[in-house]
Amino acid sequence: MGLATGTSPIGTYNQLISWYKKGDLDFSKVRAINLDEYKGLTRDNSQSYFSYMYHRFYKHINIDFNSMFIPYGTAKNDEEECVRYDRTIETLGGVDLQLLGLGHNGHIGFNEPGQIYEIGTHCVKLSDTTIKANARLFKDEQEVPKYAYTVGMKTIMQAKKVVCIVSGEDKAYIVKEAFYGLVTPRVPASILQLHNDLVLIGDEAALSQIPVNNLCAFS
Ligand code: F6R
Repeated sequence: MGLATGTSPIGTYNQLISWYKKGDLDFSKVRAINLDEYKGLTRDNSQSYFSYMYHRFYKHINIDFNSMFIPYGTAKNDEEECVRYDRTIETLGGVDLQLLGLGHNGHIGFNEPGQIYEIGTHCVKLSDTTIKANARLFKDEQEVPKYAYTVGMKTIMQAKKVVCIVSGEDKAYIVKEAFYGLVTPRVPASILQLHNDLVLIGDEAALSQIPVNNLCAFS
């Protein structure tokens, strides 16, 4: 499984935990690859994505701790860490099911808007929009790390299935741009239009700018 952090997948993790506790799911053979990690944060920093995954998901299920992968925020050498992470993903055979959120600027993982799509894992300078959006989880904006490691588009696009979760009116514009606009690295998620097994799940507010004929409602 390829996993994301942030607000969007919290409901999904809670649901998976509750199915696990009911005895309906077994994670003992699951291998989990996270999309990204802030550069500079140790794993035990409460703001690290490692901490997020551990506290919100992994400690509640029976996943083998040797089977959860996330870039090291405190790696000494960016390039080596990125190559190491890509090799790990390759060794695992890639991602079967990739869970994604969507940034307000169209980022997926921390693939920020730019001139090109980055293929491999890379260290990225976070955009002002991302720093502002993520500041809600820190004491103040200054505390948000300025760089992060993220898997590249290859890992995401080669996933057999992609599930993208969006919620809230503040995502409505970017949802329309990403899934009904031009495919361009300026809106990184727009590349998902080319994926052959993508499921977009959203609440009414986030999907409010999508033409009704293209929606399938669940109650
Ligand atoms: C997090 C990640 C990001 C988030 C995105 C949306 O691991 O990769 O792309 O999915 O920033 O964040 P939320 O869900 O907090 O709105």
